[in-house]
Amino acid sequence: MGELLPSEQAMPDEQRKRTSELARSVPKQLLIGGRWAAAKSGKTFETVNPATEEVLATVAEGGADDVTEAVRAAREAFENGPWPRMRPHQRTRCLLKIAELLEAHADELAALITLDNGKPIAEARGEVGRTIEVFIYYAGWATKIYGETNPSEPALFNYTLREPLGVCGQIIPWNGPLSMIAWKIGPALACGNTVVLKPAEQTPLPALRFGQLAVEAGVPEGVVNIITGFGPTAGAALARHPGVDKIAFTGSTEVGKEILQASAHDLKRVSLELGGKSPNIIFADADLKSSVSGSAAGIFRNQGQVCSAGSRIFVQREIYDEFAQRLAETAKGIRLGDPFDPHTTMGPLVSAEQHERVLGYLEAGKREGAKVKIGGERGPQPQGYFVKPTVLVDVGNAMRIAREEIFGPVASLIPFTDEADAALQGNDTIYGLAAGVWTRDLSRAHKLARALKAGTVWINCYGMIDPISPFGGYKQSGIGRELGQHSIELYTQVKSVLIRL
Ligand code: NAI
Ligand code: MG
Repeated sequence: MGELLPSEQAMPDEQRKRTSELARSVPKQLLIGGRWAAAKSGKTFETVNPATEEVLATVAEGGADDVTEAVRAAREAFENGPWPRMRPHQRTRCLLKIAELLEAHADELAALITLDNGKPIAEARGEVGRTIEVFIYYAGWATKIYGETNPSEPALFNYTLREPLGVCGQIIPWNGPLSMIAWKIGPALACGNTVVLKPAEQTPLPALRFGQLAVEAGVPEGVVNIITGFGPTAGAALARHPGVDKIAFTGSTEVGKEILQASAHDLKRVSLELGGKSPNIIFADADLKSSVSGSAAGIFRNQGQVCSAGSRIFVQREIYDEFAQRLAETAKGIRLGDPFDPHTTMGPLVSAEQHERVLGYLEAGKREGAKVKIGGERGPQPQGYFVKPTVLVDVGNAMRIAREEIFGPVASLIPFTDEADAALQGNDTIYGLAAGVWTRDLSRAHKLARALKAGTVWINCYGMIDPISPFGGYKQSGIGRELGQHSIELYTQVKSVLIRL
């Protein structure tokens, strides 16, 4: 593993040309009712390459009027179009076709993710792979959505129908600009709903390319509508639109609360996947090597911009110094730089805003008395939103850096004494998205799995996410569970039919 190298900023000309052509080839308009259209206002906004700060593309800025058009198209497709009425096998085929097209364009999609989001190209390829898996998984579900036959009195016959909800508004963030589409659109479509998707303003390009592929896959018009634009305008319009039956949101807890309020007006179904400050607990008996590498991946992958990032690393006192030393060595081996360089293992943060935010937390941490073991500052690159992978020691669980979501490559190491202390400190947070436990003691692992108030607990691993397994938050990390059968429940409603015989 090499030193923390300055980025080979100068992108080879060939690559620069290829990437700008790629950005140019993507549609820059809104997808409404199967057609691409400019925003009614004529407004556009720029999306920036976070590694170079160069403008990648100018994209339509959808507003409330465009949202209304898209909701109308989705409503028409739901009430009168073929999608909810077709044989479920046909929906399966269509979702499989989407997966097939994603696969056929995997390299291009990965490049678009890296361009718009900044994550290293190998991680972007991983994201494309996971996106495909989620579509294949929900393609299978379309033919497996059952009702019940209930033990009614002999003179009655009672059964249930599990029906789609209707028009689903889906607002997604920039940290998984393609995978979040699969989490939202995959199950919604499998169940026979229609959708209006609002991608994050930082990363519209993968979503727009996705829209084009969905049309190519034969998704009927109006079933998938895409409105690029900003949160307080397009996003808020979608969240409060009376024609939307369900709103699904992934993003900050702050905005999640606004969405919940907006949905109250007409009692929309709501699912929220929000922030986290997940405890990752390392006991002295854990395998040191794998706990160090797993914990490093748990906080440094995707530059730490992961809702379930293991950002509070609790280390048992007796191994605290050694663990800190080893984690710092691992951080030192991370190559921060051009995300298209195959040797790069960490790219820039997504935006100037996130860059400032994370650097602000680093300053706050130092002021509160945390010590920088490694990193703790912006990257050496002259351009781009780079932050060095950072390990902070002497962190107390009451410090701001241990209470608020930083969403950057910043590991805060907090000491603990025993199981009870680990659970107490681990749970002392408003969040409850995920937790990690590293130990060789089987019963301790199970006891902590129960004690930790989190939607996912990883034992001797961290950050594994699979469409078979539900994902979501306790406490202020959200409402509802996505993935697995749980997303089918999120995108359907139950009707009870009673027949007098
Ligand atoms: P955000 O929550 O503002 O943005 C996420 C999505 O919501 C974007 O599509 C945005 O356009 C939309 N949005 C924003 N305001 C809205 C509103 N009033 N109504 C409807 N939609 C709205 O998150 P942001 O500002 O990008 O990041 C701020 C912090 O949020 C991060 O530092 C991180 O702590 C957290 N976050 C958590 C994510 C997660 O995966 N749970 C993802 C992104 C951010
Ligand atoms: Mg915001």
